[in-house]
This record gives sequence, C-alpha cells and structure tokens, in this order.
Amino acid sequence: MNRILSGALMAFLTATSMASPLASTSKASAATTSTSAAGAPTYTPLTQAQIKSLQTELLLAASYKDKEQVLFPPNNGGSANNVSFQFVNNQGAPPQDGSVIVGSIDSIPGLIGTNVAAAIGFIGPCGLNVPHLHPRGNEFLTVVSGTLIGAFLLEEDGMFVGDIPQVAMTLTNYTGMLFPQGHIHWQFNPTCEQAVFSAAFDSNDEGRFQVAQTFFSSMPNDVLTPSLGNPTFLGPAQLDQLRERIPPAFVVMVDSCAKACGMSTSY
Ligand SMILES: *[C@@H]1O[C@H](CO)[C@@H](O)[C@H](O)[C@H]1NC(C)=O
Ligand SMILES: *[C@@H]1O[C@H](CO)[C@@H](O)[C@H](O)[C@H]1NC(C)=O
Repeated sequence: MNRILSGALMAFLTATSMASPLASTSKASAATTSTSAAGAPTYTPLTQAQIKSLQTELLLAASYKDKEQVLFPPNNGGSANNVSFQFVNNQGAPPQDGSVIVGSIDSIPGLIGTNVAAAIGFIGPCGLNVPHLHPRGNEFLTVVSGTLIGAFLLEEDGMFVGDIPQVAMTLTNYTGMLFPQGHIHWQFNPTCEQAVFSAAFDSNDEGRFQVAQTFFSSMPNDVLTPSLGNPTFLGPAQLDQLRERIPPAFVVMVDSCAKACGMSTSY
C-alpha cells in the first residue's frame, strides 16, 4: 500500500471509529469478544484444539465464501480474530537471544487458501541464524531494528566446494532483502545490539531445513564420508562427535564479534 493510500485509510478508519464504533454496529451480541477502547475487538490467542478444528473446517470448505462462513461466523461480534496473530505475547518480554516466531498455517489456520506466511525474528548480539532453507517459499526479510548481514548461495551445479557464489547485504534501518525459495541462506548480527526482523513468505507453509543438522543427522557414515571426500580425519567416531556439536537454529557466532562485545562464547 502506498503512503497516500494508507494515510487516507487511516483517516477513514479514525473517522469511522469515532462516528460509530465497529462493535456497536454488529447486530449480534459480542459477549464473548473483548473490545478495545476504539471499539474493535482485541486479539485472543487460539488454543491448539481451536487451531486443529479450524484447520479441518477450512480444508472442508470448498469455496472462498464457505471459508468466510467458517472464519467469520455471523455471531462473532465482527471480529477478525481467526485471521490475526500476535507474534510476541504482551505478557512476556520479547526474546533477547535468537528465536523466530512463525505465523503459518500451524499457528494461523486462517491462512489456509492464501499464499502467505510471516515471521518475526530476534537475533541477539553476534547471533547467527544458521544456514537453512525454506523448501516451499520465497522470503522477503526486512530489518526493523539493529543490523543484520543477510546472504544466500546461488544455484550452481557441479562446481568445486568454495566456488559456489554467495551474495550478501548489510540490512539496517528497514532495509529488506529477498531470500529465494530453496536457497541456502543465513543472517548474522555483527553488532553488540539485538536485531529484530520481519519476514514475509509467499507460501502459507514455507517450512525450514537446517543445512548442517539435516546433512549430518540422517545419513549413515558410509554415505557421509564418501560425500565428504573420505577424509582420514573424519571417521565414524569424529562424525559422532561432530553431530553432537551441531547447534540448533541460532548460535552466538564468531569469537571476534563476541570478544569485541565483551561476551563469552560457548566454545
Ligand atoms: C473462529 O472460527 C470458529 C470456527 O468457525 C468460530 O467458532 C469462531 O466463532 C470464530 N471466531 C471468531 C472470533 O470469529
Ligand atoms: C539509521 O537511520 C538513522 C536516521 O534515520 C541514522 O541516524 C542512523 O545512522 C542509521 N543507521 C545506520 C546503521 O545506517
């Protein structure tokens, strides 16, 4: 939406909410829906049971109109609760270290029938969102606070290790970047301050593969060692040690950054 349009929309919404609060225009009782001072309902998280049942009902609704009947039943007080999502609960402080909260069909069943998912991510000082890929979605990630270096590897087949080109960008002050579907990518916070990003996906179920975890966890050693060039220093015992060390999605990276920020690393 462009700025003029959104300005006009805000003016319209302000005018209508002052003239006639949305809740009072609803015919049915809104007893089960809480409303804010401005008159529109406020968000209530869905339970896991509600998410599961909404998923089932939406998948059984054939047409878009049928889906609307499921999402916004006539007695719901005019609420958009079934297509809303709070990434970080007001009751808790936002995460300080690495974590990403994903709004996809697992958490927002109302996305069923769309090609949209979203995420809010927190990457602590010197933190790394380790190399991963989204098998079913392109991602556009925008930094809303702090600084991140974002990078992905280009699609190049049959090249020698070390020769696959990577493209990268320093992202700060609301700068965003595309991470194409299926491409291995990472984000690193090179500063001593936390970074926060907002990401959009063109799939409601984008998924995530951790590259190192996936590669090293499922394959038998007989397959792994030849695909790594049969190194003499990487026998079954070393591979087992390596597997134990492979971190989850976020790590505090690079001694140099941690030292500069006065942090102790976990290594
Ligand atoms: C969300 O969807 C469920 C299932 O149709 C419905 O029972 C519930 O009233 C809806 N909630 C709101 C706030 O519209
Ligand atoms: C971000 O923008 C602000 C002003 O809008 C500026 O003061 C600051 O230096 C910028 N930060 C970076 C890292 O460019």
